[in-house]
Amino acid sequence: MVIPFYGAENREMFAIEREAMDRPGRVVEALEEILPSSGVLLDIGAGDGFVGEQLTSESRSVVALEPAAGMVNTRRPVRWVLGVAQSLPFRDDVFDGAYSTWAYFFPGLHDVSQGLAEVVRVTKEGAPTVIVDNAGDDAFTAMAPHDIATDLSFWTDAGFKVEMIDTAFVFSSIEDARRLLTFYFGEHAKPALRVEYRVAVMVRS
Ligand SMILES: C[S@@+](CC[C@H](N)C(=O)[O-])C[C@H]1O[C@@H](n2cnc3c(N)ncnc32)[C@H](O)[C@@H]1O
Repeated sequence: MVIPFYGAENREMFAIEREAMDRPGRVVEALEEILPSSGVLLDIGAGDGFVGEQLTSESRSVVALEPAAGMVNTRRPVRWVLGVAQSLPFRDDVFDGAYSTWAYFFPGLHDVSQGLAEVVRVTKEGAPTVIVDNAGDDAFTAMAPHDIATDLSFWTDAGFKVEMIDTAFVFSSIEDARRLLTFYFGEHAKPALRVEYRVAVMVRS
């Protein structure tokens, strides 16, 4: 199953989202700390490769797995592979670490066990897996008419350690804030240049 995502059809809106979301860069900082500084990482549901580009260095490369061809940005210095989390097109034990930011691993929405089994299969023994999603209890998720926070107990039960990060959506203009937040939340949106945002980082080795 491919989880529907608006980004491939509306690149302009996705550009506003990616620019504003975690503008302080706390999520990439956390990924930098947790993931190995060399080797090959797998980014599952890589979007346009925004995160993968930031994690690419001389000693570390990123394979960006993404089902929606329209999301792929070949200008980013990652290796693109079309595919889905629940059937990874890779051999066993090849990656030094894997991560997924706001993609596929939504346990409240669907069964993610096949995707988790696939990550275990393609990563080397002891390699970290990091899942990033909304933590809730913040100004951003408070605007949503239904619960959009991840199920933290699912992750702890599955043996992940959970770390909370306080960051923010920081918009370049109030018009950008209005456009994106109204797009997400309709009449519940409360546009502001800065919207506090808590992120949950789930880690398992
Ligand atoms: C909210 S976007 C996040 C993109 C990127 N990780 C980021 O942080 O910018 C979710 C992405 O997951 C992708 N996706 C949807 N279904 C998927 C699946 N079954 N396996 C892997 N990725 C999937 C979508 O195409 C979309 O690019």
